[in-house]
Amino acid sequence: MTIRNSPSTPGRWGDHEFVEVWDSQPTMPLKAEQLDILADVIKDNWRRGARILDLGCGTGKVEERIFGRLPVAKFVCADRSEVMLRFARKRLAAHAQQCRFVCADLNHLDRLDLPERPFRFILLVDVVHELTDPAKRGLLRFCRQNLAPDGLVLLVDRIALDLKHLRGAHVAVLHRLQYLTGTKTGQLSDCFADPRYHDHELPYGLESYLRAFRACGLAPAVLHLHFHKALIAARPQRRSG
Ligand SMILES: C[S@@+](CC[C@H](N)C(=O)[O-])C[C@H]1O[C@@H](n2cnc3c(N)ncnc32)[C@H](O)[C@@H]1O
Repeated sequence: MTIRNSPSTPGRWGDHEFVEVWDSQPTMPLKAEQLDILADVIKDNWRRGARILDLGCGTGKVEERIFGRLPVAKFVCADRSEVMLRFARKRLAAHAQQCRFVCADLNHLDRLDLPERPFRFILLVDVVHELTDPAKRGLLRFCRQNLAPDGLVLLVDRIALDLKHLRGAHVAVLHRLQYLTGTKTGQLSDCFADPRYHDHELPYGLESYLRAFRACGLAPAVLHLHFHKALIAARPQRRSG
């Protein structure tokens, strides 16, 4: 059975059996490395009273990793899938007082009520590639509006690769990664499918991400880039002069 996402349904993320399998799998090595860096950035830039907004929080694995470094962290965790949120509540039960869970669709951000705003950190981990391009732009504008003046948006996501011109070079990197990380064929190669083939995978290329951040008043920097995964930090642009 094909479980498809649409702008208004959680698709495969609303399917308990699919989520159970997804949640039980270890985090892929590239993502794990970037999440470790992300947790360090948050820890080193933490201030008392800060809050983290995680948009597309999934089953709470990112929060768990951050709590491992920063037990005082406080989150608002938003996701469209009640199933994902159920797993997240269970995973983060020991920190229940520090997490507020919200069922929200990132296609309808006007309905998201956030009395905790502005946020020092807004996380977008492996969710932007699931949104249409207009929704991506709306999401980044929303981040800008809800970010503290010295806050950071932290995005971890796959990026579209230039397979038309550089397939051979990318395949060589893929083989090296499979060899180094012990991942099996297929586990890292989803980026080789036409990104528009699956309606839940619409990644931007790196330059499109950077342009989209700038277009909504955020100054981005690539903190880590390896193959098809990028960690990008962005802060509000400062007016010059
Ligand atoms: C690949 S999972 C990533 C989960 C988590 N950020 C992580 O990295 O472990 C993508 C998540 O984005 C959520 N998502 C996708 N589209 C969404 C939307 N339009 N609104 C809210 N959440 C969405 C899904 O329900 C799912 O939990």
